[in-house]
Amino acid sequence: MALINWNPSYSVKIGEIDSQHQKLITMINELNDAMLKGKAKDILSPLIDGLIAYTQVHFSKEEMLFDKYKYPDTPAHKEEHAAFVKKVSEFREGFKKGNMSLTINIMDFLSNWLTKHICGTDKKYSDFLNSNGVK
Ligand SMILES: [Fe+2]
Ligand SMILES: [Fe+2]
Repeated sequence: MALINWNPSYSVKIGEIDSQHQKLITMINELNDAMLKGKAKDILSPLIDGLIAYTQVHFSKEEMLFDKYKYPDTPAHKEEHAAFVKKVSEFREGFKKGNMSLTINIMDFLSNWLTKHICGTDKKYSDFLNSNGVK
């Protein structure tokens, strides 16, 4: 069963960003499935790396739009992104060194952070970017 299900209330009203959010949700669901099936480190590691890499692609895309259109809430939004990357990277290090395992708590953290960030912080830019012609 999927940990997160996309629903229209998650839309930030920008097609490419919605697609990226959907892909992130899919990646978190895949990682969660692999964790629940008790998959080994060599299966989980690339899924975690892939999630981090794609998260960075996505954050860069949003931040590029903020810089381009001078979005007023840019500093606080970038800080949230940076804090998340730092936290997940620390988790990855611990996981690779073998002193941390992928748990339901970690999956809850990832899914809660993402849905809260999309529905709270990300949605705040919809009207601003839409009014600048980004759709
Ligand atoms: Fe986002
Ligand atoms: Fe964001």
